Amino acid sequence: MGESSSMFEAIYAGAETGQARPPWDHGAARPQLVAWAEERDLAGGGREALVVGCGYGADAEYLAQRGYRTTAFDFAPTAIAAARRKHPGSTVEYVVADVLDLPDEWQGRFDLVVESLTVQSMPPEQHPSAARSIASLVGPDGTLLVLATTRDDGVEVDGPPWPLTRAEVDSFASGGLVLRQVERIENGAWWRAELTRGV
Ligand SMILES: C[S@@+](CC[C@H](N)C(=O)[O-])C[C@H]1O[C@@H](n2cnc3c(N)ncnc32)[C@H](O)[C@@H]1O
Repeated sequence: MGESSSMFEAIYAGAETGQARPPWDHGAARPQLVAWAEERDLAGGGREALVVGCGYGADAEYLAQRGYRTTAFDFAPTAIAAARRKHPGSTVEYVVADVLDLPDEWQGRFDLVVESLTVQSMPPEQHPSAARSIASLVGPDGTLLVLATTRDDGVEVDGPPWPLTRAEVDSFASGGLVLRQVERIENGAWWRAELTRGV
């Protein structure tokens, strides 16, 4: 287990023994995802969604409720065990997997991929390969939603996290994915980017 995965695993394991809950977890789907979905009246209609770095699975459960056949992964085994326990009877498939070493059968498969705050929790030197890896999961008519907090060019941060620059958001546009929209929301504190394949 690498330094990064050990850190996250320790946070989730601590929460199991009564220590503080992970600071990013607020027990419900991420409001920025909910707002995006509601604006579009998002309906999965049985299509496939994937949630990256899913933690306890609130975003995955939300997409499943909106009609997606949903897969969700995290590299922290304790997070995945807790997600399964917290959502008994869920239709979501929870998987232990690393952004940098994903199953071959996930390549180009998903109609919707949601990445929220995972890449920025990884060391900056891993951001380019993580963005490419996530982009490669999007299917032919699929969409990638990226939610991240913002960092202005030239601003150094002592992470984790290492919020994303605009250039890092742009770097998700790889392997045929096209950046359709990038917004600074939450008074400029967050990026919300939408990418799709094709014309
Ligand atoms: C800051 S949390 C964000 C959780 C959730 N996506 C959200 O928006 O609240 C980052 C999550 O990504 C997971 N993670 C970090 N690096 C990962 C990697 N390389 N592969 C898979 N999961 C990773 C962590 O275990 C953690 O659950």
